[in-house]
Amino acid sequence: MQTAISFVLDDKITSIDFGNSSALTPTTTVLNYLRSLPEHKGVKEGCAEGDCGACTVVLAEPIGDKLRYRAVDSCIVFLPMIHGKQLITVENLRTNSSVLHPVQQAMVDTDGSQCGFCTPGFIMSMFALYKNRTHPTRAEIDDALTGNLCRCTGYRPIVEAAAKACVTNGKDSFTDNESHIIGLLNAISRESIYIETDKQLYQHPSQLKEALRLKAMYPDAHVTHGATDMALRVTKKHELLEHIIDLSGIDELKYFNDADGTVTAGAGLSLTDLMPYLKKDFSALYAMLEVFGSQQIRNFATLSGNLGTASPIGDTLPVLIAYGAIVILESERGKREIPVGQFITGYRETARESDELITSVIIPKPSPNEIIRSYKISKRKDLDISTISSGFKLVVDNEGTVASIVLAYGGMAERIKRADNVENFLSGKKWNRDTVEEAMQYIDKDFNPISDVRGGAEMRRVAAKNLLLRFWYDVEKEIVLDQE
Ligand SMILES: Cc1cc2nc3c(=O)[nH]c(=O)nc-3n(C[C@H](O)[C@H](O)[C@H](O)COP(=O)(O)OP(=O)(O)OC[C@H]3O[C@@H](n4cnc5c(N)ncnc54)[C@H](O)[C@@H]3O)c2cc1C
Ligand code: FES
Ligand code: FES
Repeated sequence: MQTAISFVLDDKITSIDFGNSSALTPTTTVLNYLRSLPEHKGVKEGCAEGDCGACTVVLAEPIGDKLRYRAVDSCIVFLPMIHGKQLITVENLRTNSSVLHPVQQAMVDTDGSQCGFCTPGFIMSMFALYKNRTHPTRAEIDDALTGNLCRCTGYRPIVEAAAKACVTNGKDSFTDNESHIIGLLNAISRESIYIETDKQLYQHPSQLKEALRLKAMYPDAHVTHGATDMALRVTKKHELLEHIIDLSGIDELKYFNDADGTVTAGAGLSLTDLMPYLKKDFSALYAMLEVFGSQQIRNFATLSGNLGTASPIGDTLPVLIAYGAIVILESERGKREIPVGQFITGYRETARESDELITSVIIPKPSPNEIIRSYKISKRKDLDISTISSGFKLVVDNEGTVASIVLAYGGMAERIKRADNVENFLSGKKWNRDTVEEAMQYIDKDFNPISDVRGGAEMRRVAAKNLLLRFWYDVEKEIVLDQE
């Protein structure tokens, strides 16, 4: 067991032993650590909650004999989460004092910066894109830059810079140095890390068995994975999290299985790693993840974390209910399965016992006659909290009658909830516009939404009804196509 963390910064292994450091704690964010170093002040703090991208850095980690580069919001990453990784900041990009990295040069050439506050963040997102895509499409560029806000330059020259730079198969000075960095990273021990300071205990187990033992011993400890929700308790609410069990170092939870008509996503898989597996068979969940936060968020956030929040606006929850997904909970006492709909028991409350961890999510593959869709309504398309989210599943029989229907809504009640009255009304009825319009009125029986900054109660009621009509409209085309 180790008590210090190690990572690569400036091409050298850097270690932090929190016991000897008065300034750094295990919940110090990577942003605040970097800002404390004289040579790494390029990274900026805008919002401290993952929304603006000014703090973007890139983390590289070995995948086989290559490094994988990912942009993250350093303002919501706790220091122990970069153990065993290379931390790359804007200062590391230029080769020497006179040669800029291609993404930096392109930003100069297209006049992509005015006040410059956002620029280091944009550069780092672009650098991650540069390392991962050659000749990216406009949609890929937009997606890579979704997590970065610029209030003065305007996005046209920035997008132009990304297109101009990303043309060389990711070749740069980092490519030349890759085997050296991999050697350094592989020399860092992956043993569990336990950090104990005067005020905090931060446990970073490397195996599930150990994590389950810790959770049994310390049922009140905070569990975290990507910390995209948890870290905000520190950065925005200024809470002292006295005891954390951080599961991000457990490789055995980072897997995806496809067998016997179901898929299983390990709890440790980031949403970015999960998405490619979903594109073909789980298009409604994939579509929801496409508008989930930004790349910086998806690179750390997990499905288990989204379930763990039990948030009434957790975007994956309605669509997971529509798919009939099942949460796997494990403890030292054993393992149990629970459907997502039953897992959520109230406002930010779940059926998880205090010694249990979510270890995977099982999603049945839809059969050909099941039509599943997801919808998210928010004030802007990207990087926004839902006003309403939904996951719908429909089975219509050969006579055009509703054989079964699931209508799960987020943002309409204190928890994700199915529209039971609407479902009951529609069951066994003809699936046509008249019936659907009649069914829409039952939303008022199912939900009594509140007004908040994201939308008024009446707006929510109307939008929830209209989502059902929108579903009918989308699905109608599909049913007609099936019959042709
Ligand atoms: C800028 C920004 C944008 C966001 N955009 C969206 C969005 O579009 N849609 C959306 O739904 N959410 C969004 N979120 C919220 C957050 O990213 C998600 O809820 C995410 O899925 C959390 O995953 P995580 O791994 O980071 O969880 P963490 O923050 O690590 O944990 C979240 C909760 O889950 C629990 N938990 C985590 N893993 C486990 C486990 N294995 N077993 C038991 N409990 C566990 C934790 O104890 C905690 O209560 C956003 C957050 C930010 C900061
Ligand atoms: S400071 Fe805004 S995303 Fe980190
Ligand atoms: S250049 Fe000023 S915020 Fe982007």
